[in-house]
Order: sequence, then structure tokens, then C-alpha cells
Amino acid sequence: MERSNLEQDLNLTIQELASVYEELSLLYRLSEVLSGLSIEGICKRIIDEAINTIEVKTAAVLFLHDNGEELYTKSSRGNWDSNLRFKQDDGVLWNSIKTQKPYVSHNVSESKHGNSLSSLKSLLICPMIGKNKVLGAIVVGDKVSSENFYSNDIKLLGAIAFQAGLSIENAYLYRELEELLLGTIRSLVRALEATSKWSAGHTERVTKYAMDIGKEMGFDAETIEKLRMSSLLHDIGKIGTPKEILDKAGKLTKEEYKEISKHPIMGAEILRDLKQFTEIVEGIKYHHEHWDGSGLFGLKGEQIPLLARVLSVADAFDAMTSDRPYRPRKSKEDTIREMMEFSGIQFDPLIIEAFLRWVDTFNLLY
Ligand SMILES: [Fe+2]
Repeated sequence: MERSNLEQDLNLTIQELASVYEELSLLYRLSEVLSGLSIEGICKRIIDEAINTIEVKTAAVLFLHDNGEELYTKSSRGNWDSNLRFKQDDGVLWNSIKTQKPYVSHNVSESKHGNSLSSLKSLLICPMIGKNKVLGAIVVGDKVSSENFYSNDIKLLGAIAFQAGLSIENAYLYRELEELLLGTIRSLVRALEATSKWSAGHTERVTKYAMDIGKEMGFDAETIEKLRMSSLLHDIGKIGTPKEILDKAGKLTKEEYKEISKHPIMGAEILRDLKQFTEIVEGIKYHHEHWDGSGLFGLKGEQIPLLARVLSVADAFDAMTSDRPYRPRKSKEDTIREMMEFSGIQFDPLIIEAFLRWVDTFNLLY
């Protein structure tokens, strides 16, 4: 082989290697960043990657509707109407879905796409495929550096679509499992609450209050979900408290009080084997701690896990505004005043601030 041919060959091989490496590192990065994200999070991330990797101005993730007859925009950026939908057999998008192959177009306005895509100068479509079925498509348009899309662009968008398909399918599966788990937990809590008329609805209310306060504090979606689980399960340990004590009309004796105070420990004990639940279980275990360290375990301030501190405020608000066998409910005004007095003593002051904002936002007093 001549030297010039060799050089050419080597250059091509290096280019090929560089392109394979780019594709591989993209796949690796995506599998890392997409795992554990919500479906919305995955879509946003895919758009970011498509825009930066392919260098385009416009990108959209389309989902195939459950009825299989329509594609709708799930997430988009750039020159794309976020309400865009495509009925079956409407232009090139559906061709790409049906053939499960990418599609490139350089003269969008002159070809048949359905009118909605005609504002794009160039277009590249890649179907997103799960294990068994097509989930939708990724569309990118208006390449920055040139008029056309090249084979490397198709390969890279293909890699993004491949990883997106897997991640979205996993996220669906995760969501289904989570719903199943939540359903089971709710039934368990309802069964527990059905044993005493005093506790009916307490858990669902505390869960709502805690999540609202968490959102007010700017918690991310994952923390809010943990807060939901922790709240739903916070009194599960009462399953071990004798019913006579739970329903007692008069003041509790010292022994009875000691018995009922064990429920956070018992709750944590019941859930001990759920390894993924560590933070959730800590929220339950410490939900009766006091900010000043005078609670059951003597944890003080930020030593008390965050979920437990929020739960404590939500729990107190519901308990004080509900009838109990040994006392009638307090008015919301009195309860809020009392909780403000105990800010920095029983409750985390920052959480009381968020609680007061929540009270204001929802006009809870009226
Ligand atoms: Fe409790």
C-alpha cells in the first residue's frame, strides 16, 4: 500500500474511532444521568443532550398515545409548538414510527410533513423504541453549523433515542411499582385507622399538609416523594399500641403515655428490613423529637432528620385541630398561634416559617 493511501486509511480509522468513542461516551453519560429521573426529567435531559450533541436550535420529544393513533409533544425547545400533535399517517413522523427507522429531510417546506413542521429548515427524526414497542420519537431541527444532517448526526441521535427508550420504559415500570406500593401502604393505614374512630383520616391529612409544607420549602421531587411515604407510614407503629390506650377518654397515666410514646420506635422497627427506605424510616422514628432536644431520643436542631422535622409540624397541626377522646379540637387560629410560640422549642423555625406561608397561601383560616 502506498504511503499516501496508508495515511488516508489511518485518518479514516481515526475519524471512525473518534465517532465510535463519541457515541459510546454519550451512551455511558446518558445511562448515568437518566437513571432515577422522572419521565419529565428524562425528557428535559434528552432535549438538552440532543441540542448540545447534534448542535441544533430545535428539539422535541414526542410520545405515542396509549391508543397508538396519535403522537403528542411531551417536551420541546426552540422553534416548536408545545401543543403539537400528529394524527396517525400524518407525514414523515409516522413513517419513521412505522418503519422504526430514522428520517432526514433537508427541505422541510417542500416535502410532505403535515404543515406543522414546515417552519423548520432541516429535520432529523429518530424513533424511541422500548423493549417491545415504539414509545415515541425524538425530533431535532435547524442544525447550527450546516444546512444538512450527516450520518454521524443520525448515529448520535440514534444513541440518544436508544438510551431514552430504555430509561423511559424503566421510569414507567418504576412508577407502576411505586403506585402499587403506595396502594398497599394506604390499605394498611386505612386498616389501622379503622380500628379507632379518633384517628380516621389523620394520616391522609398529615400527608397532604407535610407535602404542601415540603413544596413551600422548595424540596425537590424525590424528597417530596420520601416525605409522602414517611407521612403515610408515620403512625404505623400504633399497630402495637393497645386500643384502650389509643381510645382512652381521660388523661393518660405515666405508663400509658410511655406505651404510646413507643410508636415511632415500633414503626421504624416494622420497616427495618426495607433497605431503600432508610431516610423514610428515620423520618418516622424521629417524628416526635423536639427542636430543643427535649424529645424521646434527645436529638437537637438539625440532628433531627429533615423529613421528621416537617412531619412533626404537619402532625401537630392536624392533631391539635382534630377532636381527641380526651379533649375537643382547637380552632385553627389558636393552633397556629400556639405553634408559633413553640417555634425554636418544639419545631424547626424555618419549617414554621414555611408552614405560615402555606397557611397564608391556602387561606386556611377562612
Ligand atoms: Fe405519631
